[in-house]
Amino acid sequence: MAPRKKPEELRSHRWLGVHDLRSFTHRSRLRQGGYDTRDWTGKPVIGIINTWSDISFCHTHLRARAEDVKRGVWEAGGFPVELPALSLSEPFVKPSTMLYRNLLAMETEELLRSHPIDGAVLLGGCDKTTPGLIMGAISMGVPAIYAPAGPQLRGHWHGQVLGSGTDAWKYWDEKRAGRITEEQWAEIEGGISRSFGTCMVMGTAATMMAIAEALGMTLPGASSIPAADSAHPRMCASAGRRIVNMVWEDLTPTKILTPAAFDNAIRVHMAMGGSTNAIIHVVAMARRAGLPMDMQRFDEISREIPVLANVRPSGSLLMEDFFYAGGLRALMNELKHKLDLSCLTVTGKTIGDNIAGAEVYLPDVIRPFNNPVSSAEATAVLTGNLAPRGCVMKPSAAEPRLLRHRGPAIAFEDYNHMAREVERDDLEVTPDHILVLKNAGPKGAPGMPEWGMLPIPKKLVQAGVRDMLRISDARMSGTSYGACILHVAPESFVGGPLAFVQTGDEIEVDVPGRHIHLHVADDELARRRAAWKAPEPRYPRGYGALYSEHIGQADEGCDFDFLAPLGAIPEPEIH
Ligand code: FES
Repeated sequence: MAPRKKPEELRSHRWLGVHDLRSFTHRSRLRQGGYDTRDWTGKPVIGIINTWSDISFCHTHLRARAEDVKRGVWEAGGFPVELPALSLSEPFVKPSTMLYRNLLAMETEELLRSHPIDGAVLLGGCDKTTPGLIMGAISMGVPAIYAPAGPQLRGHWHGQVLGSGTDAWKYWDEKRAGRITEEQWAEIEGGISRSFGTCMVMGTAATMMAIAEALGMTLPGASSIPAADSAHPRMCASAGRRIVNMVWEDLTPTKILTPAAFDNAIRVHMAMGGSTNAIIHVVAMARRAGLPMDMQRFDEISREIPVLANVRPSGSLLMEDFFYAGGLRALMNELKHKLDLSCLTVTGKTIGDNIAGAEVYLPDVIRPFNNPVSSAEATAVLTGNLAPRGCVMKPSAAEPRLLRHRGPAIAFEDYNHMAREVERDDLEVTPDHILVLKNAGPKGAPGMPEWGMLPIPKKLVQAGVRDMLRISDARMSGTSYGACILHVAPESFVGGPLAFVQTGDEIEVDVPGRHIHLHVADDELARRRAAWKAPEPRYPRGYGALYSEHIGQADEGCDFDFLAPLGAIPEPEIH
């Protein structure tokens, strides 16, 4: 049994338990809030970091869920306080939520540090909120439990099941090809998002929620519960109960987040057919925890783990089906011979304890190892003269013919250039061309938006082409699909080789060989490099300027250089 903290060892004791003028002020202000001394005395203060907002529809329910967490905290003998944080609504925040992930991480860390908080429940789910919250909690170092928002219900239209993002792309191409009407398109708009909760395909949200669970940062099974299921508020109340004991046990994130826990999470990522975005976030989270991690670890693990979750875009179903099939506990039990079952979790028990006895109820949804959804790996990391520090691809979501391919490039200087060109009826393009987008990376876009699934040129869409090779330094939504090579590092904006690609250059991609090559002679590349002029910085001032100065490249997890190291920061002085 873990030794328990004493009340006077709580962080909050410095604010509330001593007898001086300042603590008088703190206590009198709590009484101003209608609380009595007995409500807080000797109790852990639990901060509920809530990413609810009026324009974050994935998180609409988190306002109510915070009350469920509070119910659990009170019940277990804690004192809950809710602290609102940046909501990072994926559809609305421009140019990209990725620009602000680190801001949420900073906000989380500093909210916890500057207040009398002993432990935290982190409420989030929409893509960047999961890594942002967890990165902040790691760096702060108080016990923390992540309560995922959960996926929304399935979309529906004309008897078809619709998946977030994935079906928007699909039917947009059908509309561009003239195969559905404006009226039908409007019906799809009304049917694709039916409830609060995150995207319900295996997008970045579902991937990151599952990764958080596999890391041991959530209660068992939490990541699969649909947002609208009554199990969801029950899970939140349980998280509230559990965090109080985590504080007494001093079960901090770095005790959970070991190298073995990260390997477990990457194995789960592969078995889920997870989003390529997770690579950046996992690298960032691991480095926050003081652990070495790079993209290559994903490539190594992807070779041993097939895709087992039959969820779009790698599979055909949705997260609601995955929950009914048994959820992540069942998938992890299916994978258990590949996992380190001794890893500690927020429950105080091991991953092995947490998944024991979990059953797969629908074997078409969660496949056995010997009958995977796809034998193509979920992630491949390629290197070569076009991406010296690496780039990534999701082979399981691409047409197999494109996994080994050589063709001429069509190079676009930026997103607007690309968007104009692909609509041209006279664009000289064949299905064998390779589309190249520059200036879409961490500094160049800025914020490395999800532009990596470049649209197939209109004339090819009309001819029935649905996939072709595309290369960029952008990311791609986890809901996207196709032969898209992403995260090219270093990015073109800082003079990575992608900056020097010209239309007509031959590019060769060999995914099984993990190689990408620009067939341009070295002396010609040197000539182009010498003629290249670094673009002007994007921001004259403000957060964007801070971001541009300190952001790391994709292979480094896109963290700020001053946030990444694990190091003790003094507790705030109280005067
Ligand atoms: Fe929030 Fe997809 S838009 S998870």
